[in-house]
Amino acid sequence: MEVKSKSKPVDVLLGCIVAVCFSALCSAERLCTVPPGPVSVPENSTADVQVVKIISSSDVILTVTVNPEDLFYLKGNLLMAKKGLDYESLSTSALVVWVQCSRSGSRSVNESVEVLVENVNDNPPNFAQNHYMLDVNELIPVNSSVGLIEATDVDSEPLFYRLESATDKYFRLENINTPKILVKSLLDFDVVQKISLVLHVQDTFNGSASNEPFFTSVATITVHVKDVDNRPPWFQPCLRTNLGMAKLCVSSGYRGKVNLTEKEEGPLVLEPGPVFAKDGDKNRSEQISYRILR
Ligand SMILES: *[C@@H]1O[C@H](CO)[C@@H](O)[C@H](O)[C@H]1NC(C)=O
Ligand SMILES: *[C@@H]1O[C@H](CO)[C@@H](O)[C@H](O)[C@H]1NC(C)=O
Ligand SMILES: *[C@@H]1O[C@H](CO)[C@@H](O)[C@H](O)[C@H]1NC(C)=O
Repeated sequence: MEVKSKSKPVDVLLGCIVAVCFSALCSAERLCTVPPGPVSVPENSTADVQVVKIISSSDVILTVTVNPEDLFYLKGNLLMAKKGLDYESLSTSALVVWVQCSRSGSRSVNESVEVLVENVNDNPPNFAQNHYMLDVNELIPVNSSVGLIEATDVDSEPLFYRLESATDKYFRLENINTPKILVKSLLDFDVVQKISLVLHVQDTFNGSASNEPFFTSVATITVHVKDVDNRPPWFQPCLRTNLGMAKLCVSSGYRGKVNLTEKEEGPLVLEPGPVFAKDGDKNRSEQISYRILR
């Protein structure tokens, strides 16, 4: 090969400048280009999705060098995400993928792509149990809470609750987002012993009206009203009456006859008899003691 190297100092200088320019140009010319900025990819897609197109000339070889959770792959110049990417199972929603671009004779370069996985509402709200039992004392004050039965949902907060019952009389929810069950009116064991409720939860306020996906869940609740000792024993037989909120049972007393100066054997016969009292609280079988006062 013939080498023409009889150059003047000016030519050498010029050559140097050109060489410097060329090498500067070389480092400026990137082997591949990734559009800047993070790319959003929805979770739970049913097919593989394109994350980004990497621009490079055809002789550049692309390789994924850092592949978080093995979720990505290259399809030609396209960085792809595998289908069904699950937001909930990722430790971070921002994943950084590194792609190496190499060409024989050039220094390979590494480019990063930041991928943001978008949370999609793809999980239903869940109650810990299908059925709940609550024991509630009768006569518990109006507006007191008898229980908080919350559902959980890995996607959405807040959740929307609704309480359903054959009679809307006794319980209500604190508010649509707080499933605290409050007493709406006084519970009287004599009137009601068991109340069935259905608690509905939905993860979107008005799911059916919007096009967003939404999920619902249901739990049943049985409330047992417990008889508390709020009434005295009542002599039997007696006549039930109401005095405002209070319930009474009035006995007309007992009557018996003895003949003066005569001794009679056996118990005194009373009408209506015998002397007998029953607790005014229906379901309490507490022992009753008797005493003659006068
Ligand atoms: C999301 O994935 C779950 C399984 O984890 C599946 O049951 C559900 O149908 C998917 N939802 C959507 C919207 O793709
Ligand atoms: C119960 O709460 C409701 C709503 O906060 C209120 O309007 C009502 O007066 C309260 N009732 C009682 C008896 O405290
Ligand atoms: C009281 O005396 C009358 C008349 O002698 C008698 O018929 C009656 O059985 C006596 N009553 C009692 C409770 O002993």
